[in-house]
Amino acid sequence: MPLTGGHRSFAGEGAARVIATIDCVTVDLDAHWFLGAVEIPGRVVLAPMAGVSVQAFRRQGRRYGAGLVCSEMVSVAGIEHGNERTLGYLRVANDEHPLAIQIFGADPGPMAEAARRVEAAGADIIDINFGCPVRKVTKTGAGASLLDDPVQAARIVEAVAAAVELPVSVKMRRGTANGSRDCLKVGPALVEAGAASLTLHPRSARQMYTGFADHSLTAELVSLVEVPVIASGDVTSAARAQAVLLQTGAQAVMIGRAAQGNPWAIREIRGIALEPSREEVVAELLLFIHETVRELGERRASGFLKKFYAWYLGRGRFPKQFKQELVLLESLVAVEQRLLAAVPGAAALLEDLEALAGSPADEVVLDSLPISIYGGG
Ligand SMILES: Cc1cc2nc3c(=O)[nH]c(=O)nc-3n(C[C@H](O)[C@H](O)[C@H](O)COP(=O)(O)O)c2cc1C
Repeated sequence: MPLTGGHRSFAGEGAARVIATIDCVTVDLDAHWFLGAVEIPGRVVLAPMAGVSVQAFRRQGRRYGAGLVCSEMVSVAGIEHGNERTLGYLRVANDEHPLAIQIFGADPGPMAEAARRVEAAGADIIDINFGCPVRKVTKTGAGASLLDDPVQAARIVEAVAAAVELPVSVKMRRGTANGSRDCLKVGPALVEAGAASLTLHPRSARQMYTGFADHSLTAELVSLVEVPVIASGDVTSAARAQAVLLQTGAQAVMIGRAAQGNPWAIREIRGIALEPSREEVVAELLLFIHETVRELGERRASGFLKKFYAWYLGRGRFPKQFKQELVLLESLVAVEQRLLAAVPGAAALLEDLEALAGSPADEVVLDSLPISIYGGG
């Protein structure tokens, strides 16, 4: 079954088993919308996730029908100092558009300069992180701490919006303290300052990822601003996506943890409830391994990929023991051999996927670079 709505079709979709259909889809998740002047071909957005949102993850997200994909948060200080690792995050492949690259920092000048670099790198949208709750970031005056300093936050947005032609979006938490409603004051002020879209993850920074995302706040935010709002937090299924879109009037839903090692969640949320076959799961994992090696180099990819084994093979798809076995193997070649020995039928599917995925235009390998140390937004 080919994907519709401007997305590319791919081999695995037809091979998967239909396990459910959604009877009363009321919101079309493949509807196009605009973020500033950028046309977004779908209402499912793949979340920025530090240590996860590599190019391979973003390209996969687009293949499964995400309308917009995002880089992980990129340090403005790193861009300013020409840090090789940081600059690696600014690589843009030709098939991941539209792409938002997210930056974080505490001061308007460096943020504006970094935004120019991001624009030159070929991103479609500059996203600003006002949501990261991690102390290492907030203690520098960046991330969620800017929700406590709305004047500085607005200065940053104003400076960035003035520096680039691209639309500027902001991703934020509800506030820093539990129960905070600061996003309802800060959000409209940021739109006034030039933000073309707001993404709200309605947990406090203090909550980190505990409790639940209170999307009644998202609904309130939508009623206060004229720009598109993206709802982030606990969207894990088509039913939940529909409920959040209907409850909030948001333009799109963002999907994060549910898509880790699980691009099928994007497809399910779009209304195509196909459980992947074991062949499809292994073929996608192998493609992801190949692409990540190409992107990060073998050494760095080996460590980076370990968490993905459990994500791909979990969810009741394979025995726990099998995942643990893979983590202990010494090379990625051994991992690949073990996977193909367990599911030989994945080889043919992988060939189809590789042919369809092609290779990104940018072939720079970042072997010497350590993986991200930051943990969220
Ligand atoms: C491992 C991880 C890393 C994250 N990194 C970022 C980040 O770099 N920037 C950001 O704005 N949010 C980040 N987030 C937050 C997500 O984008 C999203 O808002 C949050 O996970 C809630 O959505 P979910 O319930 O769909 O996962 C991260 C979340 C996780 C789990």
